[in-house]
Amino acid sequence: MRVLLIGAPGSGKGTQGALIAERYRIPHISSGQLLRGHVERGSELGLAVEPYLIRGDLVPDDLILSMITDELAGPGAAGGYVLDGFPRNVTQAEAAEKTAELDDRLDAVLFLDLPPREVLDRLAERSRQSDRPDDRKEATVQHRLRVYEDRTRPLLDHYRRRGMLVPIDAVGSVDEVAARIAAVLDRSDR
Ligand code: AP5
Repeated sequence: MRVLLIGAPGSGKGTQGALIAERYRIPHISSGQLLRGHVERGSELGLAVEPYLIRGDLVPDDLILSMITDELAGPGAAGGYVLDGFPRNVTQAEAAEKTAELDDRLDAVLFLDLPPREVLDRLAERSRQSDRPDDRKEATVQHRLRVYEDRTRPLLDHYRRRGMLVPIDAVGSVDEVAARIAAVLDRSDR
């Protein structure tokens, strides 16, 4: 099972990615979590990407590509994965299609479709307990949403044209959204 999750910040990629990983016993590869791990460890990559994460900008494609290509080539991903947050733009998708044959290997590209009002509500709720620097300021959250609209939304057409995009209504409880996803993935897992 190889699944890709696309959606706005706060649309539930991390939440649903973890549930998909548990249900199908595959690793959850989250580009954001991997990057935050590098920042916490103070690695060379972490030092390079931290300013982008704080501002809510996408980190440069070459940095993210080498990190994710290593993950996909590792033994942990040999039996499948749920990829959350990558690719984030068409350039990343095309590069991963060349280096990791990403599109040939995918069973589904799930688009978590959540109206902007609900996205803002969920991120506002999380910001009360979050230690993520990009959640703290309303202006940074708004910037992340603009980056999503400008850079990531065109990816939807990229996968729609290939007949791979499956929109998932992301409104409702965590369990309701998980059940919609399971209905799609159980069909493609036969
Ligand atoms: P990333 O970590 O990918 O963050 P994001 O896209 O901003 O998404 P979030 O983690 O905020 O939200 P989510 O969709 O995972 O939703 P969640 O499940 O948490 O990226 C962070 C940064 O890393 C980027 O800004 C960029 O700098 C960099 N980056 C990452 N990938 C990159 C790439 N490929 N290229 C370049 N740069 C990259 O849910 C949100 C909240 O809602 C939570 O509190 C959750 O508990 C709650 N919630 C979830 N589902 C429900 C529900 N059904 N009902 C009610 N509440 C819910």
